[in-house]
Amino acid sequence: MAREQARHIAEAFRPSRQLGSRRDYYYSRGKLGSDPLYPGVLAALAPAPAPLLDIGCGLGLLAHVLRQAGQQQPYLGVDIDADKIARAQCAGTRAGLADARFACLDASAELPDHHGSVALLDVLQYLPAQAQAALLGQAAARVAPGGRLVIRTTLADNSGRDRTTRITDMLAHLVGWMGTRPRHYPDAASVRAPLEAAGLHLQMAPLYGNTPFNNWLICAERAAAP
Ligand SMILES: C[S@@+](CC[C@H](N)C(=O)[O-])C[C@H]1O[C@@H](n2cnc3c(N)ncnc32)[C@H](O)[C@@H]1O
Repeated sequence: MAREQARHIAEAFRPSRQLGSRRDYYYSRGKLGSDPLYPGVLAALAPAPAPLLDIGCGLGLLAHVLRQAGQQQPYLGVDIDADKIARAQCAGTRAGLADARFACLDASAELPDHHGSVALLDVLQYLPAQAQAALLGQAAARVAPGGRLVIRTTLADNSGRDRTTRITDMLAHLVGWMGTRPRHYPDAASVRAPLEAAGLHLQMAPLYGNTPFNNWLICAERAAAP
């Protein structure tokens, strides 16, 4: 994403008090400006402008990116971290995001009713293996005909990128950025199986960009009704 676009979105995360924490401001500015995630997800979702459920939405950056790109589908972001959800809500209000809501919930226990497209970005590894399969099935069941389930995940393949990703995730947990620690790294087959069983058609491609991480973008589509 262009530096100016990233800076514009990050403004919503600037503290309102002069001595307030600028952590979210600098994090969102750096992440949006350097991570190939958002252009990749925008392109994957653009042909399917259905309501979007963003599971593990964190600060809700995807909602800002969608609106900046002119995509106006109803957006619901959910995350287990109540503090992040409060900050996402606050920034969404400051940015005047239309039709964007945020809610705190544990996606491994429940998902809201939804019929449309679903995003699951950098979340899977924080769930145990069994919960991952269940969540993938639940997410796939919420994809409407013509809708998409867009996943970014690292894949366990014993590569150097795989190891770099694991070390970085653990550090993010130890410094307190991620409240939950990584639990299980899925391989390609364990992501593919529940989605294909739910009738979705998959495309998987690496999304490395200039990063050292083993990130993949998976776009799973349900055929449009005839
Ligand atoms: C690496 S962050 C990704 C945030 C966001 N998807 C993005 O790409 O900017 C992973 C997020 O998953 C959330 N998460 C982890 N386990 C979860 C669960 N069981 N239910 C809901 N959210 C969860 C974390 O709180 C965190 O915000």
